Amino acid sequence: MFRINSAEKVDIINILEIENLSFSSNKFSKSQFNYLLSKAKAVFKVIKVDDIARAYLILLFRKNSKSLRIYSIAVHPMSRGLNLASQLLEFTNTYALKNKFTHIHLEVREDNNSAIKLYQKFGYIITGKKNSYYEDGSDAIIMTKKTIST
Ligand SMILES: CC(C)(COP(=O)(O)OP(=O)(O)OC[C@H]1O[C@@H](n2cnc3c(N)ncnc32)[C@H](O)[C@@H]1OP(=O)(O)O)[C@@H](O)C(=O)NCCC(=O)NCCS
Repeated sequence: MFRINSAEKVDIINILEIENLSFSSNKFSKSQFNYLLSKAKAVFKVIKVDDIARAYLILLFRKNSKSLRIYSIAVHPMSRGLNLASQLLEFTNTYALKNKFTHIHLEVREDNNSAIKLYQKFGYIITGKKNSYYEDGSDAIIMTKKTIST
């Protein structure tokens, strides 16, 4: 088990490295990460390995919505397969329950099999599709998990 910490400004350089090694398009920039650090309706967490941020998670929520959004999650290629993403999804679940979100939702690239497998393992199901959602024209699927029986 690794500790989950709130992301800080000093972590951004390592988060950018994770980002660049994890995504081929729709990458967040330094200024976007800095904005997300200070955004009130966002939760920005990291897991550090040997004091270096190796996984990050960003959750977003809106005022009148009962659905929590996983905005981004990524793990450094060198730290994959260590359950870091799983720990971040466990955290998301606990956060959603604690804050009375009835659902958690996310978009994932249609061909991102490892991420889809991860979400399915945690009980997320496919609930929709967004055509040409990404900058490179690929489609996204929407996955949702119910957290509280309504
Ligand atoms: C998807 C990702 C977050 C998984 O991170 P991770 O820390 O390696 O995942 P975990 O070790 O917690 O793995 C948990 C489960 O995810 C699934 N999974 C993870 N990597 C996988 C792979 N390469 N192939 C198939 N399934 C995989 C499996 O179901 C796995 O459970 P198992 O070990 O019992 O088989 C990571 O590969 C990543 O950062 N990818 C690039 C960024 C990305 O796609 N983010 C999601 C955007 S929506």
